[in-house]
Amino acid sequence: MDSKQFAALLNEDRRFPPPAEFAARANVADESLYEQAARDREGFWAAQAERLHWFRRWDKVLEWNPPFAQWFLGGKLNVAYNCLDRHLQTHTRTKAAIIWEGEPGDERVLTYLDLHREVCRFANVLRQMGVGKGDRVTIYLPMIPEAAVAMLACTRIGAIHSVVFGGFSAESLRDRINDSRSKVVVTADGGWRRGNIIRMKQIVNEAVVDCASVEKVIVVKRIGHESLVEHGWHPGRDHWYHTLMRNAPVTCPVEEMDAEDPLFILYTSGSTGKPKGVLHTTGGYLTQVAATTKYVFDLKDEDVYWCSADIGWITGHSYVIYGPLANGATTLMYEGAPDYPDRGRIWEIIQKYRVNIFYTAPTLIRSFMRWGEGWPSKYDLSSLRLLGTVGEPINPEAWMWYHKHIGGERCPIVDTWWQTETGAIMATPLPGVVHTKPGSTTRPFPGIEMAVVNEEGQEVPPGAGGYLVVKSPWPSMLRTVWGDPDRYVSTYFGRFGHQVYFTGDGAKRDEDGYYWIIGRVDDVINVSGHRIGTMEVESALVDHPLVAEAAVIGRSHAVKGQAITAFVTLKEGRRGTPDLVDELKQHVVTKIGALARPEEIYFAADLPKTRSGKIMRRLLRDIAEGRALGDTTTLADPNVVAQLRQQYESQE
Ligand code: PRX
Repeated sequence: MDSKQFAALLNEDRRFPPPAEFAARANVADESLYEQAARDREGFWAAQAERLHWFRRWDKVLEWNPPFAQWFLGGKLNVAYNCLDRHLQTHTRTKAAIIWEGEPGDERVLTYLDLHREVCRFANVLRQMGVGKGDRVTIYLPMIPEAAVAMLACTRIGAIHSVVFGGFSAESLRDRINDSRSKVVVTADGGWRRGNIIRMKQIVNEAVVDCASVEKVIVVKRIGHESLVEHGWHPGRDHWYHTLMRNAPVTCPVEEMDAEDPLFILYTSGSTGKPKGVLHTTGGYLTQVAATTKYVFDLKDEDVYWCSADIGWITGHSYVIYGPLANGATTLMYEGAPDYPDRGRIWEIIQKYRVNIFYTAPTLIRSFMRWGEGWPSKYDLSSLRLLGTVGEPINPEAWMWYHKHIGGERCPIVDTWWQTETGAIMATPLPGVVHTKPGSTTRPFPGIEMAVVNEEGQEVPPGAGGYLVVKSPWPSMLRTVWGDPDRYVSTYFGRFGHQVYFTGDGAKRDEDGYYWIIGRVDDVINVSGHRIGTMEVESALVDHPLVAEAAVIGRSHAVKGQAITAFVTLKEGRRGTPDLVDELKQHVVTKIGALARPEEIYFAADLPKTRSGKIMRRLLRDIAEGRALGDTTTLADPNVVAQLRQQYESQE
């Protein structure tokens, strides 16, 4: 967010009370949940846990040995049982669990009975391959129902899944498989994206060459073109999903898991080069995810609910799969791009399936704004009754557009703040109670204690900016960084002591106690709601033989929120050319994935650094956002940055 946007945010004084009609039917219509949680936080969370099915009740709600928390100690449960089996005992059994639409327009609906059957089958397949409790399974799939089946099958037998977003490169996939030491990889022959095929099996082939832990690769036939699998099929290692499923029994006993048994690993970027494996466990995660889904989205039995996130991200885990299914809801999955075959696709889907609740990212809303309200206005969006956003700060202008052109001025908007590490929503309006302000995530969810603090960890007065922290443990918090507990402690509990979780975000709290998230204060870039570490991109760049040094920053971008800008110094005697810009961008794509492609690359004779050798990112951001220099063209004068350094050091 640039300073102009931030100033506009601070002046935002529009208020939107819950519409009367909405509030009259809302799951939460008064302050009682907030009051209950304020009186007895652990009691509140225990009451939420009661909504799940436990094979054995917990002995103790919370054990807090800062910074390590354990929730619902002694409790036994199973996530797949909670998402599927228990619904088979009610009318929900024949209800749609997943409504799926493929990019080419193919459709599938799986009832809870169907999904249960598929999950049992695949759980048996995994067991038969020797996967047991605590083993890791990497899932690298497009947005197809089999992704949900694979995740739930893992939870059924107590295996730990690690879903890797389908846009990551072979190298990124390889690093994640190796870090988790996965036994099995589940993938597809390919996936559709804007009419093109992403050759996923081929990417897996490249990745697993260097993965000693991988015994089996299971391949879903999504596309069905022979050419996708004719090379690199390893008999013995590779198996077709449909063949394995054909012979698998349709019942499968569930593993009774301890509340604190690991549920999944999800890799996310931090401020160092290597992505962190965020570890979530069973009981606390499901408790908070189920409760937030019910209350934040005001979920009703008859709703069609659509969260447009990919399962490769935490939002896809918590609010496409686990939260909705734990509540017996109908969750919609769409495989493809929002602008394929045209820019009306999202609205067409909402009209077609009569979607009631729609949850998406601000970046998408800003794209829709740019494409014009002519697209949504062609469709009947009257089924919508609640809208949500997540992933990055939403600028008030985009909020107002969403409110007016998608919500028809009748749908509350829930701006939900949370992170991969928090597992579930942490700050959000409860839509039947909280008056919203465009651009504010409003209040912490009941049972969550947040604060804005200064450098010393003291709470700042209303209106002042500072660091966003969480003051006490919450059920769905990450438990550790996979294989690296020290990193867990230093990253999240190093800055303000072991009691206080540091989010990495800057924020402001206003006079009404509402939170306004400003964005990351660490070296993490948020591109279209996706987290990328500056160091990851820098390592990818310096991996290129011509690059000597690289500095990467996030600059504000009208649609993506932030875009990646790289400053590169080349090895002695090398000159930057437009061709080299393209080559370096492609190099980053190959190393990390398309989501990390730098928007622009500048060549510099030297990078601006402090005397202690630290790169002055703030200065680079000024350059990239045109503040110090006005418009910069692709190839900036190599002397410019050096001159800037001189200017800076003379002022220091
Ligand atoms: O900077 C915050 C931003 O996204 C970061 C977390 O990214 P990730 O772990 O990928 O999870 C994204 C989806 C939960 C946060 O540190 N962020 C997320 N939600 C919001 C947000 N920034 C402002 N407003 C939000 N509602």
